[in-house]
Amino acid sequence: MKTWLAAVATALTVALASPVLAQDNVGWSLAIHGGAGVIERGSLTPEQDAAYRASLDGALQVGAEVLDNGGSALDAVEAVIQVLEDDPLFNAGRGAVFTADGRIEHDAAIMDGTTRDAGAVAGLTRTRHPISAARAVMENSPHVFLIGQGAETFARDQGLEEVEPAFFFTERRWRGLVRQLEREGLPVPARPAGAPAEGAMAAVAPPLDERKFGTVGVVALDREGRLAAGTSTGGMSGKRWGRVGDVPVIGAGTYASNVEGCAVSATGSGEYFIRATVARDVCHRTGAGADVQSAADAEIEDVGSIGGDGGVIVMGTDGSVGFAMNTSGMYRGRVAEGGNRLVAIYADEDD
Ligand code: GLY
Repeated sequence: MKTWLAAVATALTVALASPVLAQDNVGWSLAIHGGAGVIERGSLTPEQDAAYRASLDGALQVGAEVLDNGGSALDAVEAVIQVLEDDPLFNAGRGAVFTADGRIEHDAAIMDGTTRDAGAVAGLTRTRHPISAARAVMENSPHVFLIGQGAETFARDQGLEEVEPAFFFTERRWRGLVRQLEREGLPVPARPAGAPAEGAMAAVAPPLDERKFGTVGVVALDREGRLAAGTSTGGMSGKRWGRVGDVPVIGAGTYASNVEGCAVSATGSGEYFIRATVARDVCHRTGAGADVQSAADAEIEDVGSIGGDGGVIVMGTDGSVGFAMNTSGMYRGRVAEGGNRLVAIYADEDD
């Protein structure tokens, strides 16, 4: 009797401590965002609209392949964010916005929902893939959050690829900075060293208010039932004084917990998302029984009540996806095992 009771107790303990094991296999699922903001119908040309959709679709395809081949949720998050970081359309990696002094400073975070291990970096200037630096912090350091030169040194020691800062330069973001600084009456810095000559690079410049937005994020569930979330950004255009937004702040822009049944990546006005601890709060809501869409909606309403604008993507342990935003658009997409890839841009579009 005693042995039987002990076996039941052990099984219960394992099941409670390992929600992954208690999870029916529902197949993999993946959702992504490329930033929320003032993205209205008619504000993008048909070509720009098509370019964003093609990029989102291509990123989904990469993640689907990783998960379909039995890759982990973490692998999918990292692989998809690498693709988005290399895509000049998004405010992360190549295509990131500039600081007021004409530099690019990247922030990123990643979190494993099964262990609640997390890694984050802020203020990287040379590491090609900030998301990989965040993962290296999580897996190969005793720390969670590294910043600035120290983070860059760590990433280099980890063998991560480094590039010249000009690698990240895009004419569109540079023009955006110049316009912004002129509007604010602030000095315009010299064009960055190594940047292509003016006019040499086409400026794909949709008339959007992307100063505060952009950012890329991914949430994933793998076949083993493991959740993961990751986010990467150049932050806010014209940022000063070492400003860091919500993205690398675990619990603000990024969070994942299999125990609470959610993985979250946020995009929006970071100062508000930090104050509302958006990503962690979404998980509190799912942990208390809310479905992912209700949790996402309630949280965006909450951050909106203190003045924040932006959006979240949320993944549940059943592969369900929640998208919520209080802006007119959010570049986003999703795909689940055996299903079609879906992308959307405008708030009123089916997703
Ligand atoms: N949400 C991106 C930032 O505030 O930096």
